[in-house]
Amino acid sequence: MATASAPAKVHLIGEHAVVYGEPAIIASVGLRTTVVAEKAGDVKFADSKWPDKGFACSANDAIGIAKKASGLWNECNERRDFTPLFNFVKADSSRNYRKALVGIALSRLGITGGVHLSAVSDIPMGAGIGSSAAFAVAIVKAIAAEYGKHVTDEQVNGIAYEMEKIIHGTPSGGDNSACCFGGLLWFQRGSPNIIRPLQQAHKLENFALVYTGKPEKSTGELVQLVRNLDEGFRNERVRKIGQMTHEMIGVLKSKDYSRLKEIINDTHKNLAELGVSTEEMERIASEVKAIGGAAKLCGAGGGGMMLCWHEDVAKLKETVASLGYAPMKADLAVEGVRLEKHF
Ligand code: PMV
Repeated sequence: MATASAPAKVHLIGEHAVVYGEPAIIASVGLRTTVVAEKAGDVKFADSKWPDKGFACSANDAIGIAKKASGLWNECNERRDFTPLFNFVKADSSRNYRKALVGIALSRLGITGGVHLSAVSDIPMGAGIGSSAAFAVAIVKAIAAEYGKHVTDEQVNGIAYEMEKIIHGTPSGGDNSACCFGGLLWFQRGSPNIIRPLQQAHKLENFALVYTGKPEKSTGELVQLVRNLDEGFRNERVRKIGQMTHEMIGVLKSKDYSRLKEIINDTHKNLAELGVSTEEMERIASEVKAIGGAAKLCGAGGGGMMLCWHEDVAKLKETVASLGYAPMKADLAVEGVRLEKHF
């Protein structure tokens, strides 16, 4: 039996723009998904939070569903519309998604047998903090360990990226990289991707995460929504976020908090213009700004998590609580994927 866990992630800056080649700065978050894998003849999956979403099938069925999903991905990629793929993976209460994940892991790791998996997570699903990426990374690490496959974290990350493609269409790869390697990362898409750990001159303090509820749309659908915007309109905002990401490095190093806040607020404004904010998020953003702080949506947006910053965290928490939300305490830049147990 092998147990592996992977952390959530939060974009300090760069979400959505990263899909169009701009860099992102991403921190891992101390909320983890833990997966237990046990060798078996067939495939079984159990999730403690959603017991009704479990399933059992043969290893061949899981691999077949993975192949179907990857064929659909190719077709959808040609049309630049991933709706048919999203409908397929969401079918049967998203069991197709989970079966495909197991199928991808087994075939990419060269495993002919099956596996029984169970998962438990502190990461809210679809909240913009990388629940699917943490899940993908932890599954690969646990299955590889259970079957004695010696894979590097780079290989785990590569397989997790294949998994992310079937649920997000054209993910940047930033989420799985942050969940896999942990710490604070500079990520930029390319051939190959640039993934650079950032030296932290100091702890990433005074940030708070605020969960505004589960988004109606998935990451893939929100990325599609941004892709459907007028190109000129979108690119202007994407470039602006990219410029601020470059600037953010120096700002973090020099602890220029007044510029840090401007950048966070301006990033949120640009993301809202791309159509991925919500009324609730706008309310939080404007109240936090009114008390001299900063707030931005996280990840794909459309609801989910907000990242807030204030010199006075107690004041920030009080303001957020007065709006009816409970700020979550979570450490940033924690350890990436790890094997917890293997026996
Ligand atoms: O919502 P999440 O946690 O899946 O983050 C998505 C981040 C995007 O930049 C919107 C997409 C991506 O693949 O980078």
